[in-house]
Amino acid sequence: MAFNPSKFIDQQVAAASAKIGPRPALLALSGGVDSSVAAILVHRAVGSQLHCVFVDTGLMRENEAQTIRSTFEPLGLRVEVTDASSRFFSALKGAEEPEKKRKIIGEQFIRVFEEYAKAHKIKVLVQGTIAPDWIESGGAGRDTIKSHHNVGGLPKDLGLELFEPLRDCYKHEVRQLAQSLGLPPAISERQPFPGPGLAVRIVGEISPEKAEIVRKCCAIVEQEIESASACGEIERPWQYFAALLPTKTVGVRGDERSYHYTVVVRAVRSLDGMTANFSHLPPKLLEKISSRITNSVREVGRVVYDITNKPPATVELE
Ligand code: XMP
Repeated sequence: MAFNPSKFIDQQVAAASAKIGPRPALLALSGGVDSSVAAILVHRAVGSQLHCVFVDTGLMRENEAQTIRSTFEPLGLRVEVTDASSRFFSALKGAEEPEKKRKIIGEQFIRVFEEYAKAHKIKVLVQGTIAPDWIESGGAGRDTIKSHHNVGGLPKDLGLELFEPLRDCYKHEVRQLAQSLGLPPAISERQPFPGPGLAVRIVGEISPEKAEIVRKCCAIVEQEIESASACGEIERPWQYFAALLPTKTVGVRGDERSYHYTVVVRAVRSLDGMTANFSHLPPKLLEKISSRITNSVREVGRVVYDITNKPPATVELE
């Protein structure tokens, strides 16, 4: 049966009112389309009882906290930004294995929310979890592909009631909801960003320095691809970003030997993230991205393009 956004919105606004009632609620706002839609839906139901919290993990996109504030405050939402970067970096120190990193991040998120909830006497946590998050986390008897931070990291002793209005939705449906709710295209069409953030784009151990490198490289990839698509040179891929490999390789800068990191550029076409094909970006665009990265991010000496579909790869590197 076709997805009916306005019917779904009415149902979920009613469900939010019934679940939350006169109580305050806490929403984990990441700025992606999923949590943004969840925020608007629940805000319709309970208004200023909703506290939207953006956790700055140190692993977010460039200028993300500012973007979130300037997008949501004009819509009447209450947005709190919590700088939790040092606790995330110290909890992740020494962790190399992807599932371990994901579990640590999930747990840190929950601890930050628990602390906020306790301080504000909040009992309900709203999350923008969508179907692929729990399916890939091993839901409904499936194999765990990867533990999505908002699923795999939930501790057994979670002292909060969960409300997940988008649990059965796929990404293209969430985008339809965003349009129906009147969210600007900058949000409804925003490319997905993984909950664990840049952590899954840094292969192996994470450090603040590596986060800074990959953040700058992601910004370059986004700017170049978005400007090529705005000029009509390419069709905008579903998702596009950079990832950092732990390997250094040899190069030359001027007359000198260099020994720097390798960055992977990834761009994919997909409908819902469950499967994906790599985008056939024009060589000229790839060259521009590569030159900008190696010219402006001195720690990077080599740029490669990922030509793997999902399956057998996944979209993110971890
Ligand atoms: P993968 O890497 O699983 O990615 O092929 C499919 C889509 O999901 C995003 N992704 C996540 N989103 N929490 C999220 O909210 C997560 O833990 C997570 N891991 C991956 C990924 O960016 C892609 O759009």
